[in-house]
Amino acid sequence: MAASEDAGMSNDAQFPAVWQGWLQQRAQVRAKRNFRRAETSREDLLDLSSNDYLGLAQHPAVRAAASRTLQAQGAGASASRVATGTLAAHRDLEEALCRYTGRAAALAFSSGYTANMGALQALGGPGSHIILDEHAHASLVDGAKLSGASIETAAHNDLHDLKLKLLANGSSGRHRTLVVVESLYSVLGDAAELKPLADLCAEHDALLLVDEAHSLAATTGGSAVAAAGLSAASHVIVTATLSKSLAAQGGAILFGGSEAELLREHIINTARTFIFDTALSPAAAGAATAALDLADAQLLERLRENTDLLARTLTSVPWLADRVEHGAGPILSIRMATPAAAVRTAAALRAAGIAVAVFRPPSVPDGISRLRLTSHAQHEPATLVEAAERIIRCIEKEEKA
Ligand SMILES: Cc1ncc(COP(=O)(O)O)c(C=O)c1O
Repeated sequence: MAASEDAGMSNDAQFPAVWQGWLQQRAQVRAKRNFRRAETSREDLLDLSSNDYLGLAQHPAVRAAASRTLQAQGAGASASRVATGTLAAHRDLEEALCRYTGRAAALAFSSGYTANMGALQALGGPGSHIILDEHAHASLVDGAKLSGASIETAAHNDLHDLKLKLLANGSSGRHRTLVVVESLYSVLGDAAELKPLADLCAEHDALLLVDEAHSLAATTGGSAVAAAGLSAASHVIVTATLSKSLAAQGGAILFGGSEAELLREHIINTARTFIFDTALSPAAAGAATAALDLADAQLLERLRENTDLLARTLTSVPWLADRVEHGAGPILSIRMATPAAAVRTAAALRAAGIAVAVFRPPSVPDGISRLRLTSHAQHEPATLVEAAERIIRCIEKEEKA
């Protein structure tokens, strides 16, 4: 209907009262719980919040590659990968991902979220059993739910609990088990023990899916799975995102060893988020391919040094030291007393020109609110120390208030 035809009609009267009442009630609950998400930006702030770990999102070579691919292959892929949407940019990206990680085959998706959903749904179904680490990302949880497999949660980073679950699962006659972990957990920033996990899964005839969202091109060696010597392990499946260190948008599943092509073909034929989703845009594929070229050992070392410096400065303060959580990658988090304290401290930091993220229930797996800080390769060490000192002062002020 044209806007002029619509004139006279009251749009408000058309909104169903039952929906309006429910929306208002949900908004009141959020306000009461002091939990309201809002869109935020980090423009003009020191970025200690985004996942652009290598600082490549604005890199001239990455932007030029995005623009070249866009000019040559179009603004969008315009179809699903299985319905004429596969472009040279996708094939180039998949080859580059294999070269970078030492894996045998790769499949690009339109996001990390759809890669995780697709992988779990395609490997699920009746007869499959999925064991998720209790801190697994929402996209992994959603994929497991979508899959129709039976689902179980294992205690966080607890090999013993996982072993008990694998044993119980084996004896109950379920046959296809998939264990799901993150190489580096996105909230606390702690790392999974990938080699023992892979050995345990092999011992119990299980597949292991590792989400490398926060370690691909962000930890020493460029891949946590490669660093654990598991690139060629056929029972280890990797998912990744192109939207963090690789500075673009999109996701991928990477396969290794003898069954790589069999698995890849299975996913192409069964993952709903691959079949029924428009393929990754050529510009994003081109940008991520260029970022892989730049994500070399030297840049990764700069990221590691900056992360260590930030962590050292924060933990040099005795009253704060044991509240700082820091794993093998660029994510650090600081436990805060309450969600409100975390929100107020982040706001004070924003006013001081520093962007940090706030994670609070229900987005934290253990119910503890945190400031989440990410380090970046491009920051100058002096700037980082100054920012860390400001963070310490802001927390101190909040807690003495
Ligand atoms: C662990 C993890 N997996 C998957 C995703 C989803 O990736 P994307 O943003 O590319 O959809 C994220 C992103 O926030 C993540 O942190």
